[in-house]
Amino acid sequence: MTDAITLRESTPADIAFLQTLYPAAFPDEDLLPLVRSLLELPDVLSLLALARGVPAGHAVFTPGTVGGHAAPVALLGPVAVLPRHQCQGIGSTLIRGGRTRLEAAGTARLLVLGDPAYYGRHGFAATSDIRPPYDLPREWAPAWQSLSLGGDDAPMNGTLRVPGPWCNPALWA
Ligand SMILES: CC(C)(COP(=O)(O)OP(=O)(O)OC[C@H]1O[C@@H](n2cnc3c(N)ncnc32)[C@H](O)[C@@H]1OP(=O)(O)O)[C@@H](O)C(=O)NCCC(=O)NCCS
Repeated sequence: MTDAITLRESTPADIAFLQTLYPAAFPDEDLLPLVRSLLELPDVLSLLALARGVPAGHAVFTPGTVGGHAAPVALLGPVAVLPRHQCQGIGSTLIRGGRTRLEAAGTARLLVLGDPAYYGRHGFAATSDIRPPYDLPREWAPAWQSLSLGGDDAPMNGTLRVPGPWCNPALWA
């Protein structure tokens, strides 16, 4: 099935699809205001996945920095796949595709707040060296995860700085 999945960067014309996708993938949350704000940021990587040419999933990668480190990092989220297309490799293709593009751009780490059972499959592991912009409930600590990119395992300590919409504590706790 994965050979039928293609990726491209989203365009403003994709907003209609995103307005369908996010309520379907997250029926208990309204992520559209966050997604719309993220898409207005410069340098955000917004990847659309197409299944046999039809939009089926989306992921956003927001550039940031950690503490005083010069190396760029990125925050993954949200990731969403239409329910009827889930478990067909689309989420994995989005994560791999973003990772490849970010590695090529020199990004050193990819951070995510999400289910370790899913992101662990992609090599993410819980981190306490890189702290989220806001304190998380203690029980969420395993969900705050990091992935080294491009073979860069140099230690990185500090707080993640990400722009605009992510500066809302409600998104983090
Ligand atoms: C999570 C999500 C993005 C995964 O995308 P997907 O295209 O369905 O995932 P893939 O096809 O690449 O991988 C499917 C595998 O991951 C597993 N998986 C999916 N969500 C999982 C989770 N939360 N925990 C553990 N495993 C999970 C599936 O069971 C499946 O396992 P299998 O390969 O052993 O059968 C998608 O299911 C989705 O949009 N869910 C609702 C929104 C959401 O939770 N987004 C992530 C948080 S930002």
